[in-house]
Amino acid sequence: MKRERVISLHDTRNDSFDPKEHINFLKNAQRNAAFRKAFDTLAPDRLVLDVGTGSGIMAIYAALAGARKVIAVEKDERMARVAMANIRRHRLENRIKLIVGDALELTHGNLPPVDILIGEMLSTWCVVEPQVPIFRHLLGVVDGNPIIIPKRISNYVEGVQTQFGDSEGVVVIPTTYFELESTHPKAKKMTSRVIASEIGFSNDMVLDVSIQISLRALHPGIVNALRLTSITETCDGITFNPRDDTMPRMIVPLPEEIRLGTGQMISLAIQYTYGAGWENFVVRQN
Ligand SMILES: C[S@@+](CC[C@H](N)C(=O)[O-])C[C@H]1O[C@@H](n2cnc3c(N)ncnc32)[C@H](O)[C@@H]1O
Repeated sequence: MKRERVISLHDTRNDSFDPKEHINFLKNAQRNAAFRKAFDTLAPDRLVLDVGTGSGIMAIYAALAGARKVIAVEKDERMARVAMANIRRHRLENRIKLIVGDALELTHGNLPPVDILIGEMLSTWCVVEPQVPIFRHLLGVVDGNPIIIPKRISNYVEGVQTQFGDSEGVVVIPTTYFELESTHPKAKKMTSRVIASEIGFSNDMVLDVSIQISLRALHPGIVNALRLTSITETCDGITFNPRDDTMPRMIVPLPEEIRLGTGQMISLAIQYTYGAGWENFVVRQN
């Protein structure tokens, strides 16, 4: 007999989005407002490059905020068709140029000088989506010194105790999973929450990340996983929080359970590569 359902595991790979998922992005009011505020302040009269435009939402917001010209790039042909329909619906064909192709293949020769670089290809800690590699590439090929939106991503971590299970409720080898609003029970917070890293964007960014963290136990018990979250700052002081559709909370197993007394510290080393996926995310106890 199957054991009682404990936690749902979710596929954490996100190479290409189902077009229906973009509807959830469009409904994320906090995210959209944070980007719009940045565009209202920064985009008027500027030349904007929006990479990974998806439905075209950010390019359209930038144009509506008064951008002189927007170049929107999308590699998924289905989404490019959706973006084009949305651009036409807003009668912005003359202000938004859509390029269907891979942003990593854009070169100095096919880009004008860019004032603002936008990319909303966000994922928790920038582990899965190509936000960092694409920004790094573009900052190496565009003329000028573009303002980048989002400006910064702050990555937080805390130690938790969870029960690992698969969707049938059978306990399996501990696996990284999304902790969604619907995930019950939530992992129990066991340690302090600390800021692990801040991601700003520049063309000399290194893609391989190495982070040391120390966490203090809040109660006695076992820590067997980390909860990772990201807060995104689109421009000075304007932030948005994780949601199921955008940068959901991630639970990442520790290599071994750690038993802690209140106030005891654990020291961990984290290594991963931006955009390379959770299978490249390694946690070690020091
Ligand atoms: C998370 S979705 C966000 C879409 C949109 N920016 C938004 O805010 O709703 C990321 C989009 O980036 C696109 N994308 C991913 N890698 C890309 C690449 N190398 N070049 C161009 N587009 C890419 C995906 O196809 C997807 O439509």
